[in-house]
Amino acid sequence: EEVSSRTPSLEALPDIPLFSDLPRDAFIEFFEGCPLRHFARGQQVFERGSRGTAFYVICEGSVRVFRDADKELAALGSGAFFGEMALLSGAPRMATVESTSDETLLLEVPASVLAHLSRRYPQVARALKKFCRDRLLTNVMS
Ligand code: CMP
Repeated sequence: EEVSSRTPSLEALPDIPLFSDLPRDAFIEFFEGCPLRHFARGQQVFERGSRGTAFYVICEGSVRVFRDADKELAALGSGAFFGEMALLSGAPRMATVESTSDETLLLEVPASVLAHLSRRYPQVARALKKFCRDRLLTNVMS
């Protein structure tokens, strides 16, 4: 993948429900230094079993989340996020994620930035845990 030369501007970020409570300033402060990464269709963001070092927000495009080629867990689009589970649990990535659109733009949030954000905004940490629980439950039940 390619690291964009432009840093993600606030305008580049879609409406992200997870962060809807964050003041504008906090957005700039936390995400300004995060790289914006481009993925072509079919390109892998990370592989199941790898170590989690970052969390991703979909700015543009879409991805699919799968355990095995024929076992898709989810399809996610603009404004959605993924990669929170490994960061919250310390466990390896539970699924592989790959781009399903010609140009997928992902904001890559390093674990340290997410940890800092979660400490400062406990509601973000709570919301993340809730997503994590819901997703785990979905996977167990499917
Ligand atoms: P992580 O385990 O770090 O890496 C794979 C990611 O896929 C995982 O975090 C979640 O963010 C995401 N994921 C797993 N299961 C689902 C699901 N059922 N719905 C949406 N996203 C999921």
